[in-house]
Amino acid sequence: MAPSYQDLLLDVPAPHVRRVTLNRPAARNALRTQLLQELADALHQADADDDVRCVVLTGGPKVFAAGADIREMAEPQVAAELGEKRRACWQVVRDFSKPLVAAVHGYCLGGGNELAMLCDIIVAGEDAQFGQPEIRLGMIPGAGGTQRLTAAIGKARAMHIILTGETINARNALAAGLVSEVTADAGTRAVVVAAKIAAHSPLAVRQAKIAVRRAAEDALAGGLAFERQAFADLLMSDDRREGIAAFLEKRAPKFTGR
Ligand code: CAA
Repeated sequence: MAPSYQDLLLDVPAPHVRRVTLNRPAARNALRTQLLQELADALHQADADDDVRCVVLTGGPKVFAAGADIREMAEPQVAAELGEKRRACWQVVRDFSKPLVAAVHGYCLGGGNELAMLCDIIVAGEDAQFGQPEIRLGMIPGAGGTQRLTAAIGKARAMHIILTGETINARNALAAGLVSEVTADAGTRAVVVAAKIAAHSPLAVRQAKIAVRRAAEDALAGGLAFERQAFADLLMSDDRREGIAAFLEKRAPKFTGR
């Protein structure tokens, strides 16, 4: 088992299943860089460990993750400097070779939703809320959200979520194709699903994951590159500074288009 972490909990809820729990409840599991680095490390370890055949990724009972850490991202220069480190962590999640099953209760927002969408299966609790609220901060998703949400639920619904900042609930997420099922206890159900996967041939499971991801991901490269550049450009805008200040001061933002 990997070493203990500050922002994650690790355990083994079923044979050959590792569970990774995001554990920063006071900040609603906001994905600060340290958390992402711990996650990347935990997944590296799980990838290298033959005893692990499937990973369940979960958060708390009221929040999966509230997105990037807005406090950490407040200073554009710091945000830009952290960008490379953060991208490397996202890449580890994206390249993880074993099935990743997300169990989502409560808020699954911004980078949190992008993290869930990088998982292979999303099991949602009845109370789950999915969204990309970056627009409210004068930003756009920066870890693949514009592309993967559109691929998952189609242009019109993705545009609505990304342009309004509104969330969709678990039932609508199921109907739209974002999640594979909705249940009262997503954590327990995700472990059952993961245990079923872990009982199959690891060789066949690995090839199946690669094959399905090629259908889902290969077409996204151009859009992902555009999103990355647009996100980096917006880091320097006055509107982004205002959006973040307004969030931290708990007031409505006043955007000027600069
Ligand atoms: N980053 C940093 N801190 C956060 C946070 C975040 N994303 N989300 C919540 N927090 C903090 C709050 O600032 C607050 O801290 P204090 O107690 O010190 O004031 C604490 O967590 C509790 O927050 P709330 O009082 O708002 O909790 P709530 O339960 O009433 O609401 C919530 C929960 C709906 C998730 C709300 O906190 C929220 O809207 N959070 C922001 C969501 C968001 O905008 N995410 C997008 C981030 S940008 C991004 O992800 C970009 C990217 O692609 C890389």
